[in-house]
Amino acid sequence: MAVVATAAGLVTALFGTSASAAPAPGAAGVGDAYYPTDGNGGYDVSHYNIRITYNPATDLLTGSTTILARSTQELSSFNIDFLLPIKSVRVNNFPARTSTVSPGEVTVTPPASIGNNQNLTVVVQYEGKPSTVKDAAGANYWKKTPDGALAVDEPHIAKWWFPSNDHPTDKATYDVSVVVPQGVEALSNGTFAGTTQTLNGWVRWNWRTTSPQATYLAFLAVGQFEIRPSTAPNGQPVLNAYGEDLGANGPAARASVERTPEVVEFLETQYGPYPFEAQGGVVSTGLGFALETQTRPVYSSAFFPRGANTSVVAHELAHQWFGDSVSVRSWRDIWLNEGFARYSEWLWAENQAEGTAAEIAQYYYDRRPAEDPFWQVVVGEPGTGNEFNIAVYDRGALAVHAFRNAVGDENFFKILKTWQATKKYGNAKIEEFIALAERISGKPLFALFQTWLFTKGKPAADDLGNTAF
Ligand code: ARG
Ligand code: ZN
Repeated sequence: MAVVATAAGLVTALFGTSASAAPAPGAAGVGDAYYPTDGNGGYDVSHYNIRITYNPATDLLTGSTTILARSTQELSSFNIDFLLPIKSVRVNNFPARTSTVSPGEVTVTPPASIGNNQNLTVVVQYEGKPSTVKDAAGANYWKKTPDGALAVDEPHIAKWWFPSNDHPTDKATYDVSVVVPQGVEALSNGTFAGTTQTLNGWVRWNWRTTSPQATYLAFLAVGQFEIRPSTAPNGQPVLNAYGEDLGANGPAARASVERTPEVVEFLETQYGPYPFEAQGGVVSTGLGFALETQTRPVYSSAFFPRGANTSVVAHELAHQWFGDSVSVRSWRDIWLNEGFARYSEWLWAENQAEGTAAEIAQYYYDRRPAEDPFWQVVVGEPGTGNEFNIAVYDRGALAVHAFRNAVGDENFFKILKTWQATKKYGNAKIEEFIALAERISGKPLFALFQTWLFTKGKPAADDLGNTAF
């Protein structure tokens, strides 16, 4: 568009609107049935540049995040998902107005409306104490620790530390740059780009993610960590970090997480090439679960009481394919993550001569009687807040095994590799997986998945399809 000399014309040119435009507010959500206000309509983010300062002594987080995006409709305003107090927002260099609709849902109104398919540079300056702000449901997933904090959770964590389009359907690349006091470590995803001294004697930690990443898979870990960088046999950078307070669990944590490149190599034989540019793991006492944060899962130290536990490592690394590269379209599709991650534990166990996947599946099937409420969870539609029910994992993995028995090993691994290759860095729903499986195997599979994923009750032994051992 030509730049005209009037002031109004100049603003029009910068925001790309025209006289015939019909701008409208961007939607407050992307339409996820479980979380209707997650994500936002009207724009698509390509990159987050997150620059923050965090003080572990006070929990004060001061930051500036630059969002690079492109509009997907004519916008009079758009929303961002964020919980900390905002100091200012600029859109393409012009100051914008903000108003908080509900906790976590902020409407940004630029001085002129935005045309469709325009570049947006949104700079948000903010400051607050993440542990003091609650989401609309009254929850807070920020984890303050004695020596730092963890931004690690699923499905919601981003809005406690950076403004975003907070839904897995809008992936982006990231630069995360974190200033902390001297002697404190600040960890995130991807490649470590070094530390620099700041003018006041604090230290800036720089991290870079160059593959598309969902917002919930971006993490921040601040505290006292022992950092171990190395190089994988495939040449990729590996960076592991262990909390300095792991105590007796430290050796087992290291003996497990240090095998990350070996587990990645095994999973590549099952699913195809590792989809990301770096590897690693972080072990902390500050959380009660593990999360498949992209390139670098974060593990609770509670997974490593004496003796190695590579099961959890195989689980979180399998998610790099199932969850991180190929992500849910909506949160109801969570079986595509947890069913396959649990099943990957069984494949890894078989590779480690700890029983075959078929034996393990039989054990999981047998150990719960038909009356167990476990069998009442519909793993293909578990319901809001029930995405991580144990049945999504265990019955979910049994579903994978039943499907493998039905199509045979050659089809099974061909389907999984084709799924990964065709959906790489994208989003998918359960029904698309079933369609691909039917197409490649040439077998009708609707009834099998209906039984295992969408019907209450314990399936019959025949439905598992194991032959006698
Ligand atoms: N995806 C994680 C895993 O199975 C589970 C996260 C559970 N979330 C939570 N807030 N507990 O590895
Ligand atoms: Zn999992």
